[in-house]
Amino acid sequence: MTNPKILVTSALPYANGPLHLGHIAGAYLPADIYVRYQRMKGRDVIYICGSDEHGVPITVSADNEGVSPQEIVDRYHAMNREAFQKLGMSFDNYSRTSLPLHHETAQEFFSIFHRNGDLIVKTEEQFFSEKSRRFLPDRYVEGVCPHCRYDRARGDQCDKCGKWLEPRELIDPVSKIDGSRPVLRKTGHWYFPMGRFAAEWKTWFDANTWKENVRNYCMGWYNEGLGDRPITRDLHWGVPVPLEEAKGKVLYVWFDAPIGYISSTQEWAQRIGDPDRWKDYWCDPETRLVHFIGKDNIVFHAILFPMMLSRAGGYVLPGAIPANEYLTIEGRKISTSQNYAIWLKDYLDLFPPDPLRYALAANAPETKDTDFSWKQFQSRNNDELADILGNFVNRTLTFVHRYYGGRLPGAGVLSDRDRAMREAIRRAPQEMGEALEAFEVRRAAKRFMDVCRTANKYFNDAAPWETRKSDPGACATTLNLCVQTVRTLAVLMAPILPFSSARLLPMLGLETLPAWDAAGDADLPEGHALGDPGILFAKIEDDVIDREIEKLARISQPAAAGPPEKASVPEIGFEDFSKMDLRTARVISAERIPDADKLLRIGIDLGGETRQIVAGVAQFYTPEELVGKTLIVVANLKPAKIRGVESRGMLLAVKTGTGLRLLAPDGETEPGLRIS
Ligand code: 2FM
Ligand code: ZN
Repeated sequence: MTNPKILVTSALPYANGPLHLGHIAGAYLPADIYVRYQRMKGRDVIYICGSDEHGVPITVSADNEGVSPQEIVDRYHAMNREAFQKLGMSFDNYSRTSLPLHHETAQEFFSIFHRNGDLIVKTEEQFFSEKSRRFLPDRYVEGVCPHCRYDRARGDQCDKCGKWLEPRELIDPVSKIDGSRPVLRKTGHWYFPMGRFAAEWKTWFDANTWKENVRNYCMGWYNEGLGDRPITRDLHWGVPVPLEEAKGKVLYVWFDAPIGYISSTQEWAQRIGDPDRWKDYWCDPETRLVHFIGKDNIVFHAILFPMMLSRAGGYVLPGAIPANEYLTIEGRKISTSQNYAIWLKDYLDLFPPDPLRYALAANAPETKDTDFSWKQFQSRNNDELADILGNFVNRTLTFVHRYYGGRLPGAGVLSDRDRAMREAIRRAPQEMGEALEAFEVRRAAKRFMDVCRTANKYFNDAAPWETRKSDPGACATTLNLCVQTVRTLAVLMAPILPFSSARLLPMLGLETLPAWDAAGDADLPEGHALGDPGILFAKIEDDVIDREIEKLARISQPAAAGPPEKASVPEIGFEDFSKMDLRTARVISAERIPDADKLLRIGIDLGGETRQIVAGVAQFYTPEELVGKTLIVVANLKPAKIRGVESRGMLLAVKTGTGLRLLAPDGETEPGLRIS
C-alpha cells in the first residue's frame, strides 16, 4: 500500500466557554486516538484544530458578561488549549480564527466566489430589536422550531431535531438580548446559492461511503431542497466582508470557521518554516481529509464546506466524516446554560488524563448517544485498567525482578497455551488497527482490554509461582512471553493511554516505542534488562466518586425558559454608590446548612469584627475551598434570615455560563478594608 497523506481535523470549539466531556467524547478524543495510531503506522498525518472565535455564540457570551468579545475569546482560547494539552491532544497545530492570517484566507474564499459570480445579493427582511436598535442574527433569536416544535430552538439551528434554521422560520420569536419581540427590517446580504450546486454535490456525495448518520442527515436536507444561504451578517465581531459596499457586515461564522482548518494548516506550515507545505495536504487529491465532529455539525461539514471547497477549486474534499452522537451525564442531557456538565478542567484537577481517555473511548457515542456515569468510570479504572492491565504488567515485571534479576529469561519449547498467547499478541495489532481504520475506537478499546484479559488469564493459568520450582524451563518461557506481551501492550495502548504507555517504556527498559506493525513481534532478546516496575493505575476510592455524583445531583433541573438576564438598571450618582458599605472580608469558616443544598453558612472576619453570612454558593464551592479566601461583602445590608439562619451581609458574585464565581480583590488584601 502507498503511504497516503492524511489530514485530520477536529471541529474548532467555540472559545466562549470551557470544554466538557461531551465535547471530548464527540470530536476530539476519537480523532486523537486515530491520529496517534496513524503516526505509529508510519503514515504521513497531520492533525489540525483551533478555536472558533467568531459568531453569535461569542458575542452572546460577551454581552452576558458585559465584556468585549476579545476578552471572552482570549480567556477561553487559553483555557481550552491548556486543557486539551493536559488531556494529551496531539494537535500539530492549534490556531484561532481571530488571527489576521485566518481573516485573509476567509476573505480570499469570499472574494473568489464573488469574482466567479457564485454569490447572490439579496435585500430581505430580517429580525431587528427596536429596543436595542440592532439586527438579531442567528442565536440572537429563539423561538419554537417549525419542524419539531421544540420551544427553545435557536435562530440558526434547532438543538433538538438538528435542522438548520433561518431566524425568520421560528414561531413566536423572542430577542435573546432584551426579551423583546423582534420586528422585521430590510437589510442586504450575500447568499451562497447551495441549490445551484446541489446536483454536483450529490454526484460527489453518492460516490463516497459515509457513516449512516451523515448519510441520513444529508439526504434529509438534500430532499428538502438546498436553498440560498446567507453568508454575511450584521454584526461587528467577525471577519469583515471584503467589499466596500458591505461596511459593518461580517462573514457568517459557519462560512469562516471551516476555512479555519485551512488557515490553521497554513499557520503550521509557516511555523515549521515551509510556508507552502499546507498545499501538500489541502491541494493534493490523494490526501484523505477526515473531519471529526459532533452530529450537530454534519450539514456544515458534509454539504456547505465541500461545496465551498469545490467551488473555490483545487482543494481536496472530505473522504470521511466520523460524526459522533451525544454523551449524556448520569442519564441527563448536558446543558452548559444550567451548568450540568463535567468540565474537562475540573476532571483534570482531580484525576489523571488516561482513565478518562479509556473510559470515553470504551463508551464512545459512535452510533447512538451513550451515557457517562462516575460509577462506570470508576469501574473502568479500578476493574479494568488497574485490576487487569495494571495487575498483569506489575506481576510480570516484579516477578522478573525478583527471580531473574530483572533480566528477560529465554523462552524454551512452547506449550499449546504458550502458542495461543503468542498468537493472540501477534494478531492484536492488526485487529485493533482494523477497528481504528474504521474510526471505531470503542471496538479498538474493547479489543485492547480483551488482549489484557487474555494475558492476565495466561499468567494465572501458567502459574509461574508454581512452575518456578516444579518446571523452571516452563516458568522462564511464561515470563518471557509475558514480558513480550507487556511490550505489545505498551504499543497497543499508546493511542488510547499515551501517558501510561510513556511511563511503561522505561519499566520495559526501552527508550522508544516500537512501530505499530512491530508490536506483535515478541523480539525482546533474552537477557534484556528491565527498568524498575511501578504502579500504572491507582485505584479510585468510593468517597471521591460519591462526591462527584453528589455535585451533579445538586444541579437542579432546568428552570423555565426565558431570555438571558440583561442588566437594565437606572443610572445612579456617586452618593448612591457610597451608601453601600463594600468591604474586603476573610472567610474563617464555612459549612453546609442541613436540608439547604444550595446554601453555605460562612463566617467572615471583617478586620476585627466577625460575622455570619448565608450564601447560595454551595453548588459552586466546597466549604474547604472558601476558607482562607478574601472576598468582597456588602457589609451594611439589613440582616435577614435565610432558611431560618441569620445572615449579616452579602458576598458579591458574578453569574457566568458555568455558574457563580465570587468576586475577590486582586492580590493579597487585608480584611475589613472599605471599597471605594
Ligand atoms: O459547534 C461548534 O462548536 C463549532 N464551533 C464548530 C466549528 S467546526 C469548524 F467548521 F470550524
Ligand atoms: Zn427542531
